[in-house]
Amino acid sequence: MTRPARARAGVRRPYSVTVPCAGMPPRARAPDWKDWLERWDRQQEAFNPTREARFDAMMDVLEVRLGRRFRVLDLGCGPGSFSQRILRRFPAARVVAVDYDPVVRQIGQGALGTMGGRLTWVDAKLGAPGWRRALPPGRFEGAVSTTALHWLTARPLFRLYRDLGRLLPRGGVFLDGDHLPWDERDRDLSELGRGVVRLYRRRQHARARDTWAGWREWWTAARREPALRSAFAEHVRRAASHPKHEGDIPLSAHVRALRSAGFRTVDVVWQVFENRVLLGVR
Ligand SMILES: C[S@@+](CC[C@H](N)C(=O)[O-])C[C@H]1O[C@@H](n2cnc3c(N)ncnc32)[C@H](O)[C@@H]1O
Repeated sequence: MTRPARARAGVRRPYSVTVPCAGMPPRARAPDWKDWLERWDRQQEAFNPTREARFDAMMDVLEVRLGRRFRVLDLGCGPGSFSQRILRRFPAARVVAVDYDPVVRQIGQGALGTMGGRLTWVDAKLGAPGWRRALPPGRFEGAVSTTALHWLTARPLFRLYRDLGRLLPRGGVFLDGDHLPWDERDRDLSELGRGVVRLYRRRQHARARDTWAGWREWWTAARREPALRSAFAEHVRRAASHPKHEGDIPLSAHVRALRSAGFRTVDVVWQVFENRVLLGVR
């Protein structure tokens, strides 16, 4: 790819090649995975400008409920943004980060490694029958997730909740930070939710960007990264892309499913319109 073409694709620090000595073939330098992770964070912030505030609120709940030494799952971890923040803030914590997309896991592993042996990466499809078998043994005091579970349709999502109900001990916590819409039957509220999304999109368009632009640019650049070639082949084989289904499962259905999975306290603990953090206490 030529330099201007790279700039158009939004690639700031691309795959680079060392200048060879006479007679030596060019040698590929390892990609800058930390930069890939930073760019992931920037494109996610374009969808959710309050992303960091939401992470902080979720970590406050972890600290109040579990203290500063715990082991949690990060469900649909992507390249590990939330795992990284948890492990930075809680030096005695451990995280098991689960994602079924080999592209984001490779980037996360490249950028964060194991963070001193405290971060474990797991390949599993959440909500698929038997997904729990992929987890390492041992106790989990909590499970967290950000901007991920809206990818799941009702059947796998509710299976995931049932499994978490069995996996977490009494007093354990589940925290989901995601778009959790009001029920369509609450007409005033669901219209408000949709109206706010439209307003936000109009503002983005006024800046000549749509909300998905950063996401598309990031994935276009990732597809061009030679070190991700085999992960991409597997990504395509698994169809591990953003799902096409429309309409996220309403908040009320999440609440019901968590209660019937054995979570005794279930409520929203943070929100900006429909961008919420749902807490379940086992
Ligand atoms: C928008 S990203 C969010 C990543 C990260 N949690 C964050 O906040 O930056 C959604 C992630 O969920 C993962 N995901 C979606 N459905 C999944 C499933 N059934 N099993 C495992 N991972 C899943 C996707 O592969 C993707 O990495």
